[in-house]
Amino acid sequence: MQNMRTQLSFAPLAGIEAELLAVLAVDNQTAKGPDAKPQPALLTTDLAVGAAAEAVLASGEFKAAANETLLLHAPAGLAAKRLLLVGLGKQAKVTVHTVRSAAGTAVRFTKPRGIRELVFALPQPQIAGPELESLPVASCTRAVIEGALVGDYDPDTYRSDRKDQSVQSFTLAAPADADKTALEAAFAEGVILGECQNFARTLVNEPGNKLTPTILSRRAMQMSEEVGLNCQNYSTDKLHDLKMGAFWSVSQGSAEPPALIVMRYEPKGVTEGPVLGLVGKGITFDSGGISIKPSDNMEKMKYDMAGGAAMIGAMRAIALLKPQVRVIGIVCAAENMPSGTAQKPGDVQTAMPLSPDKPGKTIEIINTDAEGRLVLADGLTYARQLGATHLIDAATLTGACVVALGYVNAGAFSNDDATWAKFDAALATSGEKFWRLPLGEEYAELIKSDIGDIKNTGGRWGGAITAAEFLKVFVEDTPWIHLDIAGMAWVEDSKPYIAKGPSGVAVRSILEWVRSYQPAYGS
Ligand code: BES
Ligand code: MN
Ligand code: ZN
Repeated sequence: MQNMRTQLSFAPLAGIEAELLAVLAVDNQTAKGPDAKPQPALLTTDLAVGAAAEAVLASGEFKAAANETLLLHAPAGLAAKRLLLVGLGKQAKVTVHTVRSAAGTAVRFTKPRGIRELVFALPQPQIAGPELESLPVASCTRAVIEGALVGDYDPDTYRSDRKDQSVQSFTLAAPADADKTALEAAFAEGVILGECQNFARTLVNEPGNKLTPTILSRRAMQMSEEVGLNCQNYSTDKLHDLKMGAFWSVSQGSAEPPALIVMRYEPKGVTEGPVLGLVGKGITFDSGGISIKPSDNMEKMKYDMAGGAAMIGAMRAIALLKPQVRVIGIVCAAENMPSGTAQKPGDVQTAMPLSPDKPGKTIEIINTDAEGRLVLADGLTYARQLGATHLIDAATLTGACVVALGYVNAGAFSNDDATWAKFDAALATSGEKFWRLPLGEEYAELIKSDIGDIKNTGGRWGGAITAAEFLKVFVEDTPWIHLDIAGMAWVEDSKPYIAKGPSGVAVRSILEWVRSYQPAYGS
């Protein structure tokens, strides 16, 4: 899958022959004020590297600000042809997550220069000062590999002049006295997570004509076969059989049939304990339907399947990392289009019932552009019917969430504090930013319908919350987390460590949350 070959080395830095050796640096200056000059310090004990960088560090030209880079050619005393310094920022603010970004920065520095070989020195934080002593070596190893793979991805798939500038060889150089077994395990995990995040990104990057619901389901099937997941793909007939009236109503306006993707991970010998249901919104193009969107930026709505892609990416990581917990992944894929067969504002749809003998809840369609919650309603119900005891969904659900949190945090909601606590802990490992927003009866009031049970919009104010309240009607008391990734699934401006385009957000956090349900997690 990856172009980049990755390996771990325990050889001394100075002797490593490579096109480029990257070393991290922090700013040790603790004083503030106009006279407080940056004090860059390398995070390596290698004396030869220190000597090679000494003059430039003393010059003040390199401040070791976060993701700042400086390249030296023919560094004296080193076997490497070039030495790249990458800044981590102020020492007190350095975390595993800044190290992850710095690895991405090193790769994205290297790529466009046609340099194909990169050796990245694992930080030896103990030399920089007390604040950094707690940077765990294994977590750093995993983060560096994740960051490097994520940094290597570019979305220019369809450019005919595309030069494949991928870094061909990425070596993580660890100190010789490191715990090799622990580092190798962390390294292997990082490779899987980086690859799975990139896999989600390649799906999100595909335009609507190249990735219809049917094609998305084939991609999920192909992935499942490669990693040994059980995958079933269904379409219109199954939606009718299951009485998925909400999901079907979204697809009815399109010439493309819907796809219901069901991936199952069932580790051998695990027959009790939780069953986790992962449900993703897979709208391969969202025109808004009859409540059509303005044409400005409408092309972006090919990424409206990013929640579904996150679940497919997470299922791949789960299949490869094999946590001892059962998981069901469901993606509800459809195209939301206006046509003579499309649903109309005012229509009433009946959602899937939890059991066939019960009636499904009725939904008054106010706005056909609020389609994500419709497909998720049936997907969440289906996950419960299949036995999910805990639910998580991911969706590019509302513009209101982007208004609330911008492009910095994704939105998150939960009906259960214990379930949320596990997700919050997962965020500490993944480094992804989600901000929990409230639910509440007052918000639920806003989606009551005069003609049926609920309506599919709750008005302008608190739009991310009323969307979450809509989903909550279908999860009922099942512990659940809802992730609104509308603002975070697409990187709007390229950053030193990640390309503009699909981000693959949520894959790593969901994987970590899933792992936290293993019997022996954390012990
Ligand atoms: N896919 C959109 C939400 C979205 C907006 C995703 C911006 C990414 C970026 C969703 O289906 C939608 O159209 N939501 C409407 C809901 C409204 C009609 C209640 C919205 O947010 O405007
Ligand atoms: Mn929409
Ligand atoms: Zn949508």
